[in-house]
Amino acid sequence: MTNSVFPENFLWGGAIAANQVEGGWNLDGKGLSVADIATFKPNVDVKNFAAHMDVSVAAVQEAIADETDTIYPKRRGIDFYHRYKEDLALFAEMGFKVLRLSIAWTRLFPTGEESEPNEAGVAFYRDVFKEMKRLGIQPIVTLSHYEMPLALSLKHNGWVDRSVIDDFVRFATICFEEYKEYVTYWLTFNEIDSIHRHPFTTAGIIPEQSASGEAEQDIYQALHHQFVASALVTKAAHEINPDNQVGCMMTKLMTYPLTCDPLDVELTLKKNLENDFYADVQVKGAYPRLIERDLEKRGIHIEMANEDRAILKKHTVDFLSFSYYMSMAESGDPNAERTPGNTVLGVKNPNLPSTEWGWQIDPKGLKISLIELYDRYQVPLMIVENGMGAVDVLENGHIHDPYRMDYFKAHFQQMQEAIDEGVDLIGYTSWAPIDLVSAGTSQVSKRYGFIYVDADDEGNGTYDRIKKDSFEWYKEVIATNGASLAE
Ligand code: BG6
Repeated sequence: MTNSVFPENFLWGGAIAANQVEGGWNLDGKGLSVADIATFKPNVDVKNFAAHMDVSVAAVQEAIADETDTIYPKRRGIDFYHRYKEDLALFAEMGFKVLRLSIAWTRLFPTGEESEPNEAGVAFYRDVFKEMKRLGIQPIVTLSHYEMPLALSLKHNGWVDRSVIDDFVRFATICFEEYKEYVTYWLTFNEIDSIHRHPFTTAGIIPEQSASGEAEQDIYQALHHQFVASALVTKAAHEINPDNQVGCMMTKLMTYPLTCDPLDVELTLKKNLENDFYADVQVKGAYPRLIERDLEKRGIHIEMANEDRAILKKHTVDFLSFSYYMSMAESGDPNAERTPGNTVLGVKNPNLPSTEWGWQIDPKGLKISLIELYDRYQVPLMIVENGMGAVDVLENGHIHDPYRMDYFKAHFQQMQEAIDEGVDLIGYTSWAPIDLVSAGTSQVSKRYGFIYVDADDEGNGTYDRIKKDSFEWYKEVIATNGASLAE
């Protein structure tokens, strides 16, 4: 390991998302979002992420009719809506320089189509940002993190309809204007590539609302609308405040060839090129030729307005952010053993251990990702999600979580090495600094935090916050700017 430490002013912190922490799903004028209909499914294998994220029009209608939060954990979150001061104080105690959080679109625009925002929603985030400012924590705000208005999903099949671009730009513009004094770091779409893995969560698409045989076509059309919206929002951000820094956000899905059989290498290359496609559009400003050719061969035609290509080219992002949890392998052998990762099913890599959810732990893959991404895009990088979901046991009021510290330490050391080799990494926010509701399985018992929340998957518990052993450990890492990692 190298002795180099992180750059001065490195942005250490944590990341959360509104729909996974806030609760208060029906308070102060908030509308329903796609997250509010996600159910906790106690009897479904947690490794089967697809079954957990399944959706139908009937399920949506059932959820709308249900005014309780009993089977809908994201309606409860961890009650950040009422406890944010306590949580922010704990983050400040850990020394956070930044907190990545999202703004729930439906608190400001309950159906997404109102012309004026809901004042109570605007006020809530203003209060949160004010408190952060008082504590010296800078916000990194995601504008869309799996929480689009449900009304847009039912009316337009989500982002499939071009009119949603205007709705989103209106929402984002209000955010830039209202929070100008507090926020300069913005991310447009969380894991924009995930639209293929869970089109409803990411883009409000309910597959049965697509015409027969058009589901794939609709996903690409919706994705294109998100690309254009991301560019237009980047433009607005820069116009409203020249200090604004806008980033795109991708799921970094590092894939290795299972063997050096050239077929494995070729299949792996394709996977990695596909994973880079989204950042290619948002950082370089154009669809890659290889992707366009692939779409052509698959008979997918993206409807574009005349000005779209120019918009994408002109309003590229200032930095690239990404999540990194795991890696996987690829193989030409159809019988190769597979294991789940972050809403993906990959070939199992015999060299890596896995979490209890089957995600393969690979710190070296983070370094490789950093080098590959920096070399490809040549813009500052931010890791805005990284962490491990685990079962924590509360023993006499304490949580001993050496596995979590081991996970983070190994990843931080690889970040140090990448920085030492010249990568411009400007920040790191762990997922998540506090236990919250899982995006994939709606569990609270899949715990990520340095702070334990006394709540179970059914919503029982005091919701008290308890510091885990890793709390002090991360605090020390931040206080020493990574020097403590060498101990
Ligand atoms: C990322 C998402 O993909 O993974 C987060 O942006 C999510 O919202 C995180 O929580 C971890 O996934 P999960 O399913 O364990 O919550």
